[in-house]
Amino acid sequence: FFEPSPLDASKLVVNLAKELKPIPPPESLVFGETKTDHMLIVHYDPAKNGWSAPEIKPYGPLSIDPASSCLQYCPNVFEGMKAYIGPQGEARLFRPQMNMERLVRSAARVALPNFDETALLALIKCLVTVDKRWIPTKPGYSLYIRPTIIGTRTNLGVRFSDSATLYVIMSPSGPYFKNGLHPISLLAISDAVRAWPGGTGSHKLGLNYAPAFLPQIDAIKKGYDQILWLLETESEDTKKKDYRITEVGAMNVFLVTKRDDGDLDLTTPPLDGTILPGVTRLSTLNLADAHTRGEICFPNVPPTLKIHTHEKRITISHLRSLWSEGKVLEFFGVGTAAILAPVQKIGWEGEDMVFPEGQEKGGLGMIGKAILETITSIQTGQLKFKDWSVICS
Ligand code: COI
Repeated sequence: FFEPSPLDASKLVVNLAKELKPIPPPESLVFGETKTDHMLIVHYDPAKNGWSAPEIKPYGPLSIDPASSCLQYCPNVFEGMKAYIGPQGEARLFRPQMNMERLVRSAARVALPNFDETALLALIKCLVTVDKRWIPTKPGYSLYIRPTIIGTRTNLGVRFSDSATLYVIMSPSGPYFKNGLHPISLLAISDAVRAWPGGTGSHKLGLNYAPAFLPQIDAIKKGYDQILWLLETESEDTKKKDYRITEVGAMNVFLVTKRDDGDLDLTTPPLDGTILPGVTRLSTLNLADAHTRGEICFPNVPPTLKIHTHEKRITISHLRSLWSEGKVLEFFGVGTAAILAPVQKIGWEGEDMVFPEGQEKGGLGMIGKAILETITSIQTGQLKFKDWSVICS
């Protein structure tokens, strides 16, 4: 009978920690391990007319009923964002509106309550400002931000959760992979799939990640770093069974190939419902297009070299034939956490495809390096590109 009260940033209550934690040196940081002093929390309860007043309070455990639906049926969604320090000492976020939009979409997919994206972004900016001293300034380091929504309904019946908790925690971080920026190896598998048509792979749900843990352990036992996720398909020309490439570990995937006219093709799988619409994925496509249109110049890439972007299916057999013809220049994963991870080899059906990257520091090829450097310069406010870098004020 009433409109639920919206998420209202103007109702923010701030309870600062009495004691602040010492900040560890950046070199000692392990991705996701250390948390900042504060967190943001807000509850949704239909009996209390919707969203409560948001609160910034000292970081600490949540107290939830053991029957909570997030623990039983997994209505859990999250985002990954990063904050950087800009040239004037200001805190900056990278294309944060995209994370807010995706969080709303993810929440809707598991019937969690909706919220006002602008209000949540304003609250995240406040939280980042409160814990600004935690943003590392060392190149390659940033403050990882994890907005999360969990269903808190305490009835064990299988039904959507009509109550929820939204919280945001933050973690100062360096390189995502423990060996830093180095080329990774992938094991392509087809007996386990990350996502499927009609499934939830295009949403950022906690439940998409746990099924990857066991295949990941198997890949490591076989000497590879990450999984290359495939999905059964039919070859376009031969109509025989084939497998299309979907994602690398928890990242979107890009392939750089040589064209007969001397230009380059930069290809990533299309957003067909099985691919997570990554912010770094879209930024990679946008920046390559901007380079080709002459709007920006990629570092150490000839301005006349055109990079043609494609959102197109890549099958593993096509990749193998491009590789055997020597046309694969680079293969890399992109995501918020790692930004860009160069791939050195892919194991498939007992054979390793080894790519020509690895000559340069970090195993980066020319395009991967240019994209990584350009995105980082925009994130840290050194390079202005559209309104991608947003100041927290
Ligand atoms: C990301 O790159 O942002 C990811 O999704 C990986 C992860 C830490 C969940």
